[in-house]
Amino acid sequence: MATAAVIGSQWGDEGKGKIIDYLAKRADMVVRGQGGNNAGHTVVIGGKKYALHLIPSGVLNPGTVNIIGNGVVIDPKGFFDEIKVLDADGIDTSRIFVSDRAHIVFPYHKELDRLSENAKGDEKIGTTQKGIGPCYCDKTARVGIRTCDMLRPERFREKLAARVKAANETIVKIYGGAPMDEAAILEEYTDLARRLSPYIRDTGVLVDGAIREGKNVLFEGAQGSLLDLDLGTYPFVTSSHPVSGGFAIGSGIGAASIREVVGITKAYTTRVGAGPFVTELTDAVGDMIRERGHEYGTTTGRPRRCGWFDGVVVRYSARINGTTGTALMLLDVLGAFDEIRLCYAYEHEGREITDFPADLETLHECRPRYRTAPGWKTDITGCRSYDDLPAEARAYVRAVEEITGVPVKIISVGPGRDQTIVREEIL
Ligand code: GDP
Ligand code: IMO
Ligand code: MG
Repeated sequence: MATAAVIGSQWGDEGKGKIIDYLAKRADMVVRGQGGNNAGHTVVIGGKKYALHLIPSGVLNPGTVNIIGNGVVIDPKGFFDEIKVLDADGIDTSRIFVSDRAHIVFPYHKELDRLSENAKGDEKIGTTQKGIGPCYCDKTARVGIRTCDMLRPERFREKLAARVKAANETIVKIYGGAPMDEAAILEEYTDLARRLSPYIRDTGVLVDGAIREGKNVLFEGAQGSLLDLDLGTYPFVTSSHPVSGGFAIGSGIGAASIREVVGITKAYTTRVGAGPFVTELTDAVGDMIRERGHEYGTTTGRPRRCGWFDGVVVRYSARINGTTGTALMLLDVLGAFDEIRLCYAYEHEGREITDFPADLETLHECRPRYRTAPGWKTDITGCRSYDDLPAEARAYVRAVEEITGVPVKIISVGPGRDQTIVREEIL
């Protein structure tokens, strides 16, 4: 069995798309199991940049089958926008399959996302406004509409009409918003249902079949562990389970099916949206990381908050994911600093904390305890082996391993496919 999950160890945007694309050259199948088009996964091939949101990052590798599993929420409009861009570039999109159990994001979910964020004022989460939270709300309230409903046009129209009515009640009565046009939504989404139908399959059977046949199957995480609904910085989280356990439910396989768990980990920390961030730098150092790392959202274009490496976060992430190896990303970005800091613990009321706290007030009161590492002050984007790296960069990698307790198996020194140093093969 050659299965590996790729998950984000921090708050998302760690470089999952790049590593999935890199590993996909040896993968027969790439599977998404949660989230939706709130994700923005960048793949750079020969200088050309692709931003994938809903479609798995394996699509750029000829021959790889790409699965959008039952735990993903599907925005059909977004799906076809992505297909259009890929088709225009001559990329084969015939190997994409969508689960018949996946829930669908409708325009009223996006409107509810926007209105609920606005109503929160200063307390807003800073969502991507893609309707993700409201769609998962409908799913857990057991009133959602699934892709299998799209295969039965009459039932689909009936269900959708009922849901638009119910959503309009909330939009108008709770938020004082304008009702959505039921007829227009019905017309547009009836057509989208027709177009999506050929992609719909029982994807659990496909994934299970590939695993049983001993094929290489890669699971592509979206978001990051600290955005997990249960284990993240609640309520400043997303509404799904970006941890490795999310793949079992989100793609319909057994919990013991995944052999390797690769924690995609930035060499520093970023976060987009609100919520606690202990090692955040709001000074010139943070600005320098943002500019060097081009830290602006792939989905929303928002500037990302930046800070030093937070070892408490990544160690916690290793525990909740069962991480077997780290891919240390964007190491090149740190090449401008005389001195680099790594947080190994938090200090709270004079005590040292090494486990990530649940309580946000406690987190706000935590101060980072840093260990300092000398910088390498050189461009490492051309390094292709571990031994090519300057001694200070290798020492930084070892410090990350010591603090997190996880071996660094991959090091990324640039966005390109070739800017990848593999110390131990994953698949
Ligand atoms: P994802 O959501 O985890 O797939 O990550 P994003 O694509 O949102 O953000 C990661 C960004 O970093 C993208 O712009 C990548 O092209 C870029 N990137 C990935 N790895 C590296 C690296 O090692 N060095 C540099 N400089 N950029 C990288
Ligand atoms: P990738 O897959 C970074 C954040 C949002 C917000 C919170 C909730 O590219 O790493 P949502 O729209 O999901 O309800 O927003 O989660 N968020 C992400 N941050 N990367 C992502 O995806 C994210 N997806 C959601 O900014 O704070
Ligand atoms: Mg991203």
